Amino acid sequence: MKQSSAKQYAFSDAEYEELRRIIEQSVGIALASGKRDLVYGRVSRRVRALGLSSFAEYLARLRKGDQAELEELVNAMTTNVTQFFRESHHFDYLRETFLPEMVQRHQRDRVIRIWSAGCSSGEEPYSIAVVMAEFLDAHPGWRAEIWATDVDGAILRQAEEGVYPMESLKDVSQERLRRFFLRGKGVNEGKVRVGKSLREIVQFQRVNLIQPWRIRQSFDAVFCRNVIIYFDRAHKKQVVEGFADHLAPKGHLFLGHSESLHGLTDRYQLIGKTIYRRRD
Ligand SMILES: C[S@@+](CC[C@H](N)C(=O)[O-])C[C@H]1O[C@@H](n2cnc3c(N)ncnc32)[C@H](O)[C@@H]1O
Repeated sequence: MKQSSAKQYAFSDAEYEELRRIIEQSVGIALASGKRDLVYGRVSRRVRALGLSSFAEYLARLRKGDQAELEELVNAMTTNVTQFFRESHHFDYLRETFLPEMVQRHQRDRVIRIWSAGCSSGEEPYSIAVVMAEFLDAHPGWRAEIWATDVDGAILRQAEEGVYPMESLKDVSQERLRRFFLRGKGVNEGKVRVGKSLREIVQFQRVNLIQPWRIRQSFDAVFCRNVIIYFDRAHKKQVVEGFADHLAPKGHLFLGHSESLHGLTDRYQLIGKTIYRRRD
């Protein structure tokens, strides 16, 4: 049995395999063999936090069906890197093409619905909300609804709070800062909080993309960027085809810069840089 050297806990091949399996089955994240050190680093923190003395004890706990710990493991294993207006061409497309098309199409209910799936700490849905709020200034009587979901409960709580270091908004214009964000004072100096007008548009919820979704409405667009990149092929396909089922006719899917539907499904047509439209 191979064991890592110079580490506080023994970590066998079999234990690594079992953790990989549990993570893949719970959230679809496919860990390559090169991720062993990453898994050791993140899981050993959980072993320590629980006061256990080995990975074997930790796995025994998961095998007994400890759901709360499974959630902690998922939170520990997700990669939450994100930023405001990341991949800015998507936001230009929203403003210049997508939203004008929507107001042509939705004459009846006048609500534009967007799902940010895998929203991490909230920068993505709040960026969408900024663009929608600005656009709707010129379209009174219209409403925007953004549903922002993630499997990581801890990061979702941060997203809901909507508090960010000032530094994370360095590329956001002064005008947007003034209109949509509140500057912290006293102990919150150097931080900003997302203002009410954006918070009212965005609704957060914990959703695991690889488990069945309970959704009744359809969306005009889904942003699922830099999420399926971590999934194996079967889960990628399951998730993007699920989006197609929940998109309105001609609904759009925005993927991350290194993600593609090529060879995965024929339910979409590529219409821009990592922008897809559902085939009707
Ligand atoms: C790298 S972040 C991307 C954030 C944002 N979409 C962006 O592009 O900046 C990936 C997010 O996907 C979430 N995620 C991973 N597996 C998931 C799953 N099975 N269901 C829902 N969210 C998941 C992670 O928790 C993480 O917050």
